[in-house]
Amino acid sequence: MGSNDLNGNRERWGSKFGFIMAAAGSAVGLGNLWKFPYLAGKNGGGAFVLMYILIVIFIGISLVMGEMVIGKATQLNAMGAYRKLSKKLTWVGGLGVLTAFIILSFYCIVGGWVISYLIKTLTGALSISDTEALGNIFGELVSNPLEPIIYGAIFMLITLLIVVAGIGEGIEKASKIMMPALFVMIIILSIRSVTLPGAAEGLRFLLYPDFSQFSGEGVLAALGQVFFSLSLGMGIMITYGSYLSEDANVPQASFYIPILDTLAALLAGLAILPAVFAFGFEPAQGPGLMFVTLPAVFSQMPAGVFFGFIFFALVFLAALTSSISLLEVCVTYVVDEWKWNRKKATWILAIAIFLVGIPASLSNGPWSHIAIFKGMGFFDTYDYITSYIFLPIGGFMSCILIGWLWGTDNALAEITNQGRIPFRYANAWSFLIKYVVPIAIAVIFITSITA
Ligand code: PHE
Repeated sequence: MGSNDLNGNRERWGSKFGFIMAAAGSAVGLGNLWKFPYLAGKNGGGAFVLMYILIVIFIGISLVMGEMVIGKATQLNAMGAYRKLSKKLTWVGGLGVLTAFIILSFYCIVGGWVISYLIKTLTGALSISDTEALGNIFGELVSNPLEPIIYGAIFMLITLLIVVAGIGEGIEKASKIMMPALFVMIIILSIRSVTLPGAAEGLRFLLYPDFSQFSGEGVLAALGQVFFSLSLGMGIMITYGSYLSEDANVPQASFYIPILDTLAALLAGLAILPAVFAFGFEPAQGPGLMFVTLPAVFSQMPAGVFFGFIFFALVFLAALTSSISLLEVCVTYVVDEWKWNRKKATWILAIAIFLVGIPASLSNGPWSHIAIFKGMGFFDTYDYITSYIFLPIGGFMSCILIGWLWGTDNALAEITNQGRIPFRYANAWSFLIKYVVPIAIAVIFITSITA
């Protein structure tokens, strides 16, 4: 995305399909494939999934629409958009930039794990079904003082090179091919996983809500995950929406993106959790879940090395379309506000973000004894303060902006292109944005923080 051309005209998405794929490309990433299954595994399975879906429906969709319309109306980056609609809330745009900075610092480490797995698949190191050995391979990788940092640097370098080049048409074109390919791939994998002997228990775990296994913490985890997964609360949808033209159909896009994103998360859950039970892994083991379970699934498939490679390649690309959007938020801010040139801004930011990520990597190994916040190390702390604190604050403030400062009438005029496209849920959306969403965020946030 290049912002404005020499005549001051803003760049536009090539097509509706392209826009939806690119926005879904930012949304669908490690959050869906890596984080969602392990959070579901940790927070009681079905109850978490149900809570997640309810939050997507009542909070996620409304906020995607809200952010997108802020972007479309102002045609500005997140911070500029906030400033234009309400000077008092300019800081929210700044908080979004900080959030993107921190998320990317640990995201690139996980991206590095994916690159390492891509290579391991090719060398055949993962072609085993011994569950303990697979667990050890993951443990050795993430706790190594150097290896994940080097792979993380490679991941960051690739992100940086794409962003320096100006994403231009690239992001849209790439997303149009990759997103459908990713879907086909996780559908194949979930079919393999649910048909494994012993998979039924996992299906039940994932789909049957057992609320005795569920806690207040689980609700906050679901809320934070909705924000993380939909790229909400930090102005990404504002930025992407700012490249929409006057006549774009916001209501339609704001339904498609959460639906695709949720589908990707559920499919990833279906690909991973039944296999976890079939192979006797521990569902609550945390961040290693995808990395230890899926190689076991591949080893049970014909042409497993081939499928394994394709899968990790797609995970890598999905992570990349998200990491690009994260870096882009920081770069746009520095270019617009500090007047740096794009190349310098991108390099310096990428290096700074990467350096901040190093402690996150070390906290899985040599620094695992260091706790910096609520008993958590760097990696978990970065994730916690962004997903569970900063993103909900950003989401809450966007409701205040739309519902109370800019006004839902103005927003609705923009959503419906001054009444030219029908939007059946106009009243429901206004009510959600003004009351339900901010109150729900505040309640979940306060009860679980003080619990
Ligand atoms: N939504 C992305 C994912 O699920 C991560 C992300 C979060 C991207 C916040 C941008 C902003 O992987």
